[in-house]
Amino acid sequence: MKALTFLARRFVAGTDPKDAVWAGERLAERGIKATFDKLGEDVLDRAAALRASEAAKELLRLVPGHIERNISIKMSSMGQEISREFCLENTAGILDVARETGGFVRLDMEGSRLTQDTIGIFRELRERYDNVGLVLQAALHRTPTDVEEAVARGDRVRLCKGAYREPPEVALQDMAAIREAFRSCAHRLLEAGNYPAIASHDESLIRDTIEHARARGVEASRFEFQMLYGLRRRRWGELVAAGYNVRVYVPYGTHWLPYFYRRLRERKENVLVVLKNLFGG
Ligand code: FDA
Repeated sequence: MKALTFLARRFVAGTDPKDAVWAGERLAERGIKATFDKLGEDVLDRAAALRASEAAKELLRLVPGHIERNISIKMSSMGQEISREFCLENTAGILDVARETGGFVRLDMEGSRLTQDTIGIFRELRERYDNVGLVLQAALHRTPTDVEEAVARGDRVRLCKGAYREPPEVALQDMAAIREAFRSCAHRLLEAGNYPAIASHDESLIRDTIEHARARGVEASRFEFQMLYGLRRRRWGELVAAGYNVRVYVPYGTHWLPYFYRRLRERKENVLVVLKNLFGG
């Protein structure tokens, strides 16, 4: 377990919110923004969900003013699977603190059994708050429709491929098709969306975004790239130097195993990166 904890440090900023803020400070020094995430998901106990929302509020208050107070949260950690109303109010409490502190809250997207409900919760919150955004997964068959709805409503979207294993009825399975779907959704969001976040380490998608934005006259200030802590660190600086907004997803906390597992599963090279790190490469 100790060795695993050591390996996870590549992808996780630490166990304490102060570790995450420290990482955020280092990023800010390089002109890179952050979104902070207290790791945790699939909470089935009300007290634990309340603790998760208190932790999110504490984090918003802890982030110093010169760093954007931007956090990411998972609805399943806020009690989504206990009761929708409970989750909604728990999350609204976080959005109240975000409003007080000038912060922004992104609702991460989880497995497809939660997609519709997460979007529903987002829509309800969006009627009361403008400091909340959602995530759409390019791999899902439903996503082009969700993108259209988000564009029509002016919602802030983070577009990613999707990290959860889904059946063929729900999601594309082939990487070429997922990339194609990603490009098509990204183009739509770049042209008509509200400050979309293009979240990928995939160089072909990063380049396509840059080229499409240039060709359509979309200024660099109208969107941002997002990447995960520990992945493609050099690329973050290159993009900033080229005038793009870059935000890094900074996870912290002790409940890192599912997150760490998803990172290893999605790319063999991530396992190699971890091993290289372990042996001092
Ligand atoms: P992927 O891992 O598919 O790699 C494709 C190619 O990219 C590689 O072949 C290589 O060319 C290049 N590449 C990747 N890593 C590299 C590296 N380290 N160095 C050099 N080249 C590299 N998912 C989800 O379901 N819900 C969510 O809410 C989120 N949130 C989220 C936030 C942010 C900020 C990010 C970046 C991602 C997510 N995701 C997510 C995860 C996302 O859905 C997806 O699983 C991962 O980003 C992996 O897909 P990529 O497109 O990044 O590249």
